[in-house]
Amino acid sequence: MRTKILHLLENPVVGETPTVCGWIRTRRDSKSVTFLEVNDGSCLRSLQVVVDPTHPLLSRCTTGASVRVTGALAASPAGQQAVELRAEALDVLGDAGPEFPMQKKRHSFEFLREIAHLRTRSNTFGAVFRVRNVLAREIHRFFQDRGFVYLHSPIVTTSDAEGAGEMFQVTTLPLEGPPRDAAGAVDYTKDFFGKKAGLTVSGQLEAEIFACSLGDTYTFGPTFRAENSNTSRHLAEFWMVEPELAFADIHDDMDLAEAFILHLVRSVLEHCGEDLAFFDKMIAPGQLDMLRKLAAASFARMTYTEAMEHLLSVADRFEFKPYWGADLQSEHERYLAEELVGGPVFVIDYPKEIKAFYMRCNDDGRTVAAMDLLVPRVGEIIGGSQREERLEHLSRRITEMGLPPENYEWYLDLRRFGTMPHCGFGLGFERMVQFVTGMGNIRDVIPFPRTPGNATF
Ligand code: 4AD
Ligand code: MG
Repeated sequence: MRTKILHLLENPVVGETPTVCGWIRTRRDSKSVTFLEVNDGSCLRSLQVVVDPTHPLLSRCTTGASVRVTGALAASPAGQQAVELRAEALDVLGDAGPEFPMQKKRHSFEFLREIAHLRTRSNTFGAVFRVRNVLAREIHRFFQDRGFVYLHSPIVTTSDAEGAGEMFQVTTLPLEGPPRDAAGAVDYTKDFFGKKAGLTVSGQLEAEIFACSLGDTYTFGPTFRAENSNTSRHLAEFWMVEPELAFADIHDDMDLAEAFILHLVRSVLEHCGEDLAFFDKMIAPGQLDMLRKLAAASFARMTYTEAMEHLLSVADRFEFKPYWGADLQSEHERYLAEELVGGPVFVIDYPKEIKAFYMRCNDDGRTVAAMDLLVPRVGEIIGGSQREERLEHLSRRITEMGLPPENYEWYLDLRRFGTMPHCGFGLGFERMVQFVTGMGNIRDVIPFPRTPGNATF
């Protein structure tokens, strides 16, 4: 049985003879001794393996090769590491040769995206995906500890939850010459699902069904948006966490979102110290301080109208001129979080025209009980709202926004039969990974990014 390097470095017992497996990161040769840095992905650090320079397999021990080493764990006389492994038995399991594309020099993230099947062998991507893993674990822990029921919402659906027309279509009809109805339109009754179907943009509507029966619930799964945005914050396939709270209003929603983000930040500080220190040093200086401060803070809250007044007072600095009624652009979100507040800020009560049909209308008739959480560097990380629980209001919104009412009958039933106040939000999981790691591009925090023009791997 192999011992993981993380385990060995955390519980070093000098004199033991463990077996370690991993990939060679670098190699240094001197007359009397050869050092191999072996990494197995269990932690950022590599293990220093000391080999006799006359060992017959050494010529195959190049960067990228996989090895199995058994040896004595010894206190290291020099260097940064406390212990090293003095090789007694060394096997090369897989050669890498001179063509291995990842050499010691720093590679650009753009280059590494082209070799996403190998980039996880680098320090940065190992750290990103260990942090991502801990965040996923802690998301479940947070909701499970609070009695939320985990719902697997469907991937294929016939309703556009956001009503924004950004669904990828799912069909088995022939692209050329699909069946047509009398009016000449494509006849979807002949399609696989008997209706026009697509990939879900959100699990919210199904989460509402659960919230209106099982109580507090959450989904955590992939969502898809066919928006043609080539930005550092948009993916065509991303993961979203969507809790839905029963018998709760927009203020409860913000309280939950705040407790949730704080739990995640505290958890990565507790469990990912080494990886975060790496990001702080190599990727985003000041990141650790920022996270530590945030973990002890509470989040600011303001209305959209207040936010707009602040933006208007510095309107000159923006490319997109702010005005009441306009959606917030990324530059506006970042100004509010980074400069005005200097930390996370909830913005609530947006104009109804720029928000989804399901949000609850406020008494002013112009705004809805929406809430977005804006954070430094990333901008909008959470979008949520109190849901419109009044049947007449909701039916009117569906018609006003030109959505096909027949697709939302089941959703309206939740208002016809035992309606009650409820609310929820969606956290963009990759944006959360970006926020805690400081990684600048969302393509570098998901294993295999899907963006316009790209779905390799
Ligand atoms: O604000 P959004 O569109 O809200 C919803 O989908 C609601 N149904 C959520 C709910 O109330 N249950 O998306 C929620 C979050 C955004 O704040 C953002 O963090 C992320 O999802 N997001 C994206 N992340 C990556 N790429 C994209 N194209 C994204 N679109 C939204
Ligand atoms: Mg949003």
